[in-house]
Amino acid sequence: MTVSDRQNGRVRIAVLAGGRSSEHEISLASAASVADALDPARYDVSVIAIGRDGRWQLPTAESPALEQSVSDGAEGRETLPIPRDAAPHPLGPVDVVLPILHGPFGEDGTVQGLLELAAIPYVGSGVTASALCMDKDLFKAVLRDRGIPVCRSVTLRPGDAVKHPFDYPLFVKPARLGSSVGISKVRAEAELAAAVELAFRHDDKVLVEELQDGVEVEVGVLGNREPVASVVGEIVANADWYDYAAKYDEGGMELVVPARIAAEAAERVRELAVASFVATDCEGMARVDFFVRTDGEVVVNELNTIPGFTATSVYAKLFAASGISYTDLLDHLVSLALERHERRQLLAF
Ligand SMILES: Nc1ncnc2c1ncn2[C@@H]1O[C@H](COP(=O)(O)OP(=O)(O)O)[C@@H](O)[C@H]1O
Ligand SMILES: [Mg+2]
Repeated sequence: MTVSDRQNGRVRIAVLAGGRSSEHEISLASAASVADALDPARYDVSVIAIGRDGRWQLPTAESPALEQSVSDGAEGRETLPIPRDAAPHPLGPVDVVLPILHGPFGEDGTVQGLLELAAIPYVGSGVTASALCMDKDLFKAVLRDRGIPVCRSVTLRPGDAVKHPFDYPLFVKPARLGSSVGISKVRAEAELAAAVELAFRHDDKVLVEELQDGVEVEVGVLGNREPVASVVGEIVANADWYDYAAKYDEGGMELVVPARIAAEAAERVRELAVASFVATDCEGMARVDFFVRTDGEVVVNELNTIPGFTATSVYAKLFAASGISYTDLLDHLVSLALERHERRQLLAF
C-alpha cells in the first residue's frame, strides 16, 4: 500500500512523545513540533504521550492534545499494557507510527521492537540499527570494521581498573545516553575517578575517550537504501564543549551553515555520513556528528537515529538549507516508513 491507498487517501499517524529517558522534555518539544507541522489535509494525527514512568497514554476525545494527555498518573485514561501492570487497550487504526523519542527506551531499538511485533510501519531505523547506534562502543566497532575513522577509546565495565593510554584532557561518557548527560571533560588524572563514577550512574558501560581537537560539524541523512546527505553545519558552542546547557539553553550554541571548513573536508564529511548510515543499517533518518580535527582528519563522533526534531533543530535546519522543508521532510519520512514496511512484508521468515 502507498500513501494514496490509505483510508480516504489520508494517513493515520501516531506520534510517540516523551518517554522514559532523561531526554523526555526534548522529545515532547520535538513531537509537538512534528504534530503541528503534519499537513492536516493529508494526515490524521494523534499523539501518544509516554510518561517518565513508561506509561503510554492514548489520546481520548476529551484530551486529544499533547499538553493535556502528558501529565503522569492522570485518572481514567486508557493505556497500552506498558509497563506490564497497566490495563491493556487497543491502539486503534494507525498507518504509521512516528517514534519521536530520544535516548534509552525510545531511540535504542526497544520501541522499534514493539512496533515490529505489532506489525505497524514506523519512521526511522529498525531494531538492530537503533540499538547499535545507541551504543557508542559497538557503533565505533562496526565503523572501524568498515574503515571509517572514529576516535580511540577504552571501554569500562563496573569493577574494571580505570586504565587508559590517553593524554589529558580526555572525555568520559556513558555508552548509551544522549544530550551530553553523564559526560565529563576530564582535565587531569585527579578528576578521572569522579567522572567515571558519574558516567556509571547512567549506564553499566562507560567510555574513556581521546580528546579530538578541532571543529564539531553535523550532517543530516535521509533515505532508506540510497540515502542523501544534507549540507554540513558547524556547531559553535557557547561553552568549552557542547554540554547540555549549550545544547538547550537559549543562545547556548550557534549553528553555522555551511560549516566553515575546506570544501574537500565537507565532501568527506558528507561521504562518511552516508557510509556510516549504510554501515550500520540505518533507515529513514539520522544525524551524523563529526570532529574535523585541526590536523585535517575527519572523524565520526556519533550517529543519532532520532535526532532532535523540532522545526528549529539542527537536523531540520540542515535540510532546510539543502532545499527540503520541515513539512517535506516529514512527508519523505512517512513514505520511507511505508516503503520499508511493504518491502519487508514480501520476505519469507
Ligand atoms: N572525544 C571527544 N573529543 C572532544 N570533544 C568531545 C569528545 N567526546 C565528546 N565531546 C564533546 O561532548 C559532546 C557530547 O558528546 P557525545 O559523544 O556527542 O554525546 P551525546 O550522545 O550525549 O551527544 C560533543 O558534542 C563534544 O562537544
Ligand atoms: Mg552528541
